[in-house]
Amino acid sequence: MKNLFRTKDIVALQQETDGDNGLKRTLTATNLVALGIGAIIGAGLFVRTAAAAANNAGPAVTIGFVIAGIGCALAGLCYAEFASMIPIAGSAYTYSYATLGELVAWIIGWDLVLEYALGAATVAIAWSEYLNKLLSTFFHTSIPYQWCHSPFEHSVDGVSGMMNIPALVILLLLSLLLIKGTKESASINGLIVVTKVAIVILFIGFGWSFINPANHTPFIPPAQTYVDSQNVPHNFGGVLGILGAAGVVFFAFIGFDAVSTAAQEAKNPKKDMPIGILGSLAICTVLYLLFAYVLTGVASTEDFRSTGREASVAFAIETYMTGFGWLAKLVTVAILAGFSSVILVMLLGQSRVFYSMSRDGLIPKVFSDLHPKFRTPYKSNMILFVFVGLFAAFVPGDIVGDMTSIGTLFAFMLVCVGVIIMRKKNPNLERGFRTPLVPLVPILGIIVCGAMIYGLGWPNWVRLFIWLAIGFVIYFGYSARNSKLNKKS
Ligand code: ALA
Repeated sequence: MKNLFRTKDIVALQQETDGDNGLKRTLTATNLVALGIGAIIGAGLFVRTAAAAANNAGPAVTIGFVIAGIGCALAGLCYAEFASMIPIAGSAYTYSYATLGELVAWIIGWDLVLEYALGAATVAIAWSEYLNKLLSTFFHTSIPYQWCHSPFEHSVDGVSGMMNIPALVILLLLSLLLIKGTKESASINGLIVVTKVAIVILFIGFGWSFINPANHTPFIPPAQTYVDSQNVPHNFGGVLGILGAAGVVFFAFIGFDAVSTAAQEAKNPKKDMPIGILGSLAICTVLYLLFAYVLTGVASTEDFRSTGREASVAFAIETYMTGFGWLAKLVTVAILAGFSSVILVMLLGQSRVFYSMSRDGLIPKVFSDLHPKFRTPYKSNMILFVFVGLFAAFVPGDIVGDMTSIGTLFAFMLVCVGVIIMRKKNPNLERGFRTPLVPLVPILGIIVCGAMIYGLGWPNWVRLFIWLAIGFVIYFGYSARNSKLNKKS
């Protein structure tokens, strides 16, 4: 039984990083911050904010952003210590393999699939919403409801969804781009990041004067139950509503840790990883608070529950910001590009986690086979496309979005635990960055992330539980026996 807690040797891990491990080292600190912002600003801000306002907290979604930001900063500080200490691909998975042992590493790696793969699916679904907005704004046409929604959704006039085809198409295109190579992908990403940040700032700047104080009153709605148009009940308003909103918009912060999955491709990981993680997190937090405040001030909670439910930002500008039609158009185009960069980083993160797990023998070798010319895990990219595509095509965005949030929150909690254990087990090991105030910071991280998990409600707890149960079956059926550490011992 003690084998379940066998750990990878950290010093060996650090040496592994120094040698040529197959992946190219091309990314600088600026690339990493760009990679982070590229992954962070996306559907969480432009789609989930409105969903959280509608279903959970009204204008108090802004407070939800504060809570989510605090949780991320705390977990981010823990992430940064790990990333600077064990700078190899795999993120929380690798960190926990060296600290908490193989079983926990497996749980985290499995859990990260929720974060990256389902995160990519969620953003692809949001991409599909804005594609429709683009088609209606520029070409006065749209994709029929049934071909851009999952079978579990129906429109206000009773049309049932069948399959989300645009979401599938964007996933395929980006998977092919990834196969071609990380460096190329990172430079395209840089361009998109600038555009994305620019439209967020423009919306905040121009939208500010269109804030209608009535939409912000009461700022915290009284606690009640709201049943949405798909007949799903939500805790709305009050403390529970705010915690739920925090859990939902937590999605908007996911991605800063994706920076850590690129550690193996960073030129100077010890110094640059903490800058990449914390720098991108700080910039985004400030933008989010302002953005949520303006969005919920320009349009009302009722809007977000009805006509403004999809492509909410473009809706708010078109409907309430007279004279800013050009901004709605610009935002729609930029968001489509922006979402693409998020999907790209999510898919990249996922294939890198699988790469590490496969090199460790926990999942089959096919996930670490590199392309002879491009040096990318191309088979893994294609398998992932099929997996992520199934969720994007057939599951509603709200469900995959919340599963992404809960999976990531759980992984963050384990990372916080990991830092405490690591300080006890290996106090003297070299760290490029040290989490301040251990164990206070990790403990607070566990509490804040735990509160958001609580806020996400029991249907999401059940989904997380089922996902982990499937993971256990695979671990005991395959991974424990095929683990390289097993073969060594
Ligand atoms: N944080 C990313 C987004 O908001 C996942 O889309």
